[in-house]
Amino acid sequence: MSFYRSFLLLLSCFYVVFSGANASDIITSSEPLRDSGTVFSSGKRFKLGFFSPRNSANRYVGIMFNLPSPTPTVVWVANRDKPINDSSGLLTLSEDGNLVILNGLKEIIWSSSISNSMKNSTAQLLDTGNLILKDSSNGKVLWESFQYPTDSLLQLMKMGIDKSTNSTGLLKSWRSPDDPSVGSFSAGIQLQYIPQAFIWNNTAPYWRSSPWDKQIYIGMPEMKSSYRSGVELVADNAGSVYQTYSNGNQSWILYYSLNSTGSYQEKVWDQSKKDWVVTWANPRSECDIYAKCGAFGSCNPKSSPICSCIQGFKPKNEGEWEKGEWSGGCIRRTALDCERNKTDVEKGKKDGFLKMQTMGVPDFVIWVSSAKEDCESDCLSNCSCMAYSYYTGIGCMHWNRSLIDIQEYYMDGAADLFIRLAYSEFAANDKKDFPVAAIAITVSIGSIIVILCGYLFWKLLAKHRERKTKSEAFFREASPKCYQNGMIKDDINQVKIEDITLYSFNMLATATDRFHSASKLGQGGFGPVYKGKLPDGQEIAVKRLSHSSGQGLQEFMNEVVVISRLQHRNLVRLLGCCTERGEKILVYDFMPNRSLDAYLFGSRQEKFLDWSKRAIIIEGTGRGLLYLHRDSRLRIIHRDLKASNILLDEYLNPKISDFGMARIFGGNQDQARTIRVVGTYGYMAPEYAMHGRFSEKSDVYSFGVLILEIVSGRKNSSFYDDEGELTLLAYAWKLWNENNIIKLIDPKIFVSSFEKQMVRCVHIGLLCVQEYAEDRPNVSTVLSMLTSDMAELSTPKQPAFTGGHASPQQSQGSVNTDTITVLEPR
Ligand SMILES: *[C@@H]1O[C@H](CO)[C@@H](O)[C@H](O)[C@H]1NC(C)=O
Ligand SMILES: *[C@@H]1O[C@H](CO)[C@@H](O)[C@H](O)[C@H]1NC(C)=O
Ligand SMILES: *[C@@H]1O[C@H](CO)[C@@H](O)[C@H](O)[C@H]1NC(C)=O
Ligand SMILES: *[C@@H]1O[C@H](CO)[C@@H](O)[C@H](O)[C@H]1NC(C)=O
Ligand SMILES: *[C@@H]1O[C@H](CO)[C@@H](O)[C@H](O)[C@H]1NC(C)=O
Ligand SMILES: *[C@@H]1O[C@H](CO)[C@@H](O)[C@H](O)[C@H]1NC(C)=O
Ligand SMILES: *[C@@H]1O[C@H](CO)[C@@H](O)[C@H](O)[C@H]1NC(C)=O
Ligand SMILES: *[C@@H]1O[C@H](CO)[C@@H](O)[C@H](O)[C@H]1NC(C)=O
Ligand SMILES: *[C@@H]1O[C@H](CO)[C@@H](O)[C@H](O)[C@H]1NC(C)=O
Repeated sequence: MSFYRSFLLLLSCFYVVFSGANASDIITSSEPLRDSGTVFSSGKRFKLGFFSPRNSANRYVGIMFNLPSPTPTVVWVANRDKPINDSSGLLTLSEDGNLVILNGLKEIIWSSSISNSMKNSTAQLLDTGNLILKDSSNGKVLWESFQYPTDSLLQLMKMGIDKSTNSTGLLKSWRSPDDPSVGSFSAGIQLQYIPQAFIWNNTAPYWRSSPWDKQIYIGMPEMKSSYRSGVELVADNAGSVYQTYSNGNQSWILYYSLNSTGSYQEKVWDQSKKDWVVTWANPRSECDIYAKCGAFGSCNPKSSPICSCIQGFKPKNEGEWEKGEWSGGCIRRTALDCERNKTDVEKGKKDGFLKMQTMGVPDFVIWVSSAKEDCESDCLSNCSCMAYSYYTGIGCMHWNRSLIDIQEYYMDGAADLFIRLAYSEFAANDKKDFPVAAIAITVSIGSIIVILCGYLFWKLLAKHRERKTKSEAFFREASPKCYQNGMIKDDINQVKIEDITLYSFNMLATATDRFHSASKLGQGGFGPVYKGKLPDGQEIAVKRLSHSSGQGLQEFMNEVVVISRLQHRNLVRLLGCCTERGEKILVYDFMPNRSLDAYLFGSRQEKFLDWSKRAIIIEGTGRGLLYLHRDSRLRIIHRDLKASNILLDEYLNPKISDFGMARIFGGNQDQARTIRVVGTYGYMAPEYAMHGRFSEKSDVYSFGVLILEIVSGRKNSSFYDDEGELTLLAYAWKLWNENNIIKLIDPKIFVSSFEKQMVRCVHIGLLCVQEYAEDRPNVSTVLSMLTSDMAELSTPKQPAFTGGHASPQQSQGSVNTDTITVLEPR
């Protein structure tokens, strides 16, 4: 024995003498633990001793962290339901070898209750915080405190059922901070196809996690960071299901506990504060409370009221629901088609699925072995299937009873939930969404399904607006002077006329590094576009219009103000303009992912767009266009829709840019015929290119070309000396007639399970590019054809330009894809 260790031993002997603590981490019948004593684990991380909770004189035996916290951090209590009323208690080993607590009268207050215990046993407090009882002769562990948790979970403890040791490790809360007896809350893991974590209030669920995806519970990304290292969830065939964790960095001190009001918390020791910090807790919000909104109700913590019925459902009891009594839940408005009798008028119509994004999925999940592509159809084919979801790491999930405990999450990685609704619900919803459109569409196309998937985008938009508001506030402070009497004052830095911001030339010059070529994003038909950064950090795109516009300043300003009021999640937002020094400069939101053409045809192709992303882009572009045509006050016809005018935001959502340019450049939108033709050859409808007649249908034509480009991955002008055809349209038409559309599909994105969808898309594209404007569908019809696969599509007629020549004006304009502006003699 080294000198050092003898010294320590000597020291600890003194310690024993003066403090009454045990010399080691061991308790034996000859060395019991008295009320005044303390047993420390070998590494001094934990201690075992008698304690009284605050406001109480009762004495309990507990295991505590050995830390200088203001009150002892008790992680385990032996006699939680049977306190000792004085300091006469004794923790020792009984004659049968059990660990027992005796009171002053030598009555057994608490026992480890091992039946086949050995005569010769010892108890030891390990440095993990585990108190074990072992057979001294062979070291076999007979009992351990880790198998009987109270309200705290330490490293290596198991929360849940471990069949190999027959333990059911539920955490059970204290009754109150003053009373360690068993309270009403407990926490554990339940396995029902897929493990989920629960907190119960007595026997009723109080909180539930989403299913375990083999790394975290869906929608709880904080588990990845906060646990510092692996959380392990074991679920085996024997019926064990439990969760354990270990700290990645052992210098962190952290643990989990369930407090007396049902909050399960992660606590980390803060050495500088000498106290615990709660790093996260569940439930997080009122929406986390189990079944807050009842059956078929969905909870959104950011809306008011927080509960709403899922689309297609109505409150079971309107009166109670209005009063905020949501537990009654919601009921279906329309019976499912599969439940109705076959004689029903809507016979043959199939139920559909409503997509809800980033959700905490309902309870009572059933895991089915279906592949991703069969998950939906398997659900549809079984009338008892109410909803499905497919989640990587889990697979296909079905629900066959009332959907309960649904929550809208706001984070990436949460699940998309698809809810079964009657066919007619989708049609009804569509009418609500597009009142004008619904009247205009002839019924022949059939009903429409629109899947509302917007709310995530709305959230992003909201975030974005917040940032913008901040930047506006910045400007308001920076330059309080206002735009007055229609005069634009050159000396002012920054002003706001209603919604439009006027930027000073100097500010934009600084933002773009004096319009340096290094900050140039591209050269559009109306002038170059630069990337800029405002003093507050906001990134902008600056479009410096070429001087050819014939408009006066006042007209220009009027148009810009009008255009800037158009707001839609699939339109690039116009932030403001600058008119100093004879310049006409437009300032837009910056889109980090640039334009679609770079992804489809560019050599760089930084990010590959798979089919699902392309489908989202097609649909989003359609929605933006519909807004321009129908839903905005202005009824704008874009006149230059093309891949390079579709910008992509950070999530690759499409945003139409350059809308309203025709207005800004002085084209008259109210006239169906113009002398100024603005557009790009190849995207221009024949009646527009040749006769200057434009309408919504000429935009539909451009959209059709765009659809074909997106599906084929080919630029429409890439065909000039290829495939023996002049245009993409001609090529597509040829393949259509040969019944060989699949050949048109970009081989990089082709997945056989989406073949039907892709072919349908080409079909819709061909309908859009038909030669005669009156044959083309309008945008709302195109959208409904895109979003529902139920409506029958008509057979397309021959598209324009298949005969050969692109346009009679080719000699005047250029053949490249730049926007051109041509004056057409009438
Ligand atoms: C303490 O408990 C003992 C045994 O349960 C009992 O006899 C005694 O009266 C109690 N003392 C007080 C002060 O309650
Ligand atoms: C109990 O175990 C200790 C250590 O193994 C041993 O020294 C002692 O003799 C044993 N006593 C009995 C009664 O078996
Ligand atoms: C668990 O309990 C069952 C039945 O109560 C018993 O048969 C089995 O031996 C126990 N297993 C262990 C490891 O104690
Ligand atoms: C817990 O359940 C009891 C009934 O068992 C109820 O009275 C109490 O309000 C519940 N507590 C919470 C926080 O829900
Ligand atoms: C562990 O955490 C401590 C304190 O935060 C830090 O100084 C140390 O570098 C960490 N060790 C490792 C291996 O990460
Ligand atoms: C339990 O934790 C929650 C959340 O941190 C807190 O609001 C509540 O007051 C705690 N309950 C008690 C009894 O300390
Ligand atoms: C279906 O028809 C049967 C017999 O005609 C009738 O009893 C039942 O109520 C009908 N069900 C529905 C949902 O209309
Ligand atoms: C439909 O689903 C239920 C439960 O999800 C299952 O019990 C039943 O066997 C299924 N029926 C068919 C025909 O697949
Ligand atoms: C739901 O599915 C489970 C498992 O297949 C089955 O036991 C149960 O009866 C089904 N419930 C309903 C209402 O169909």
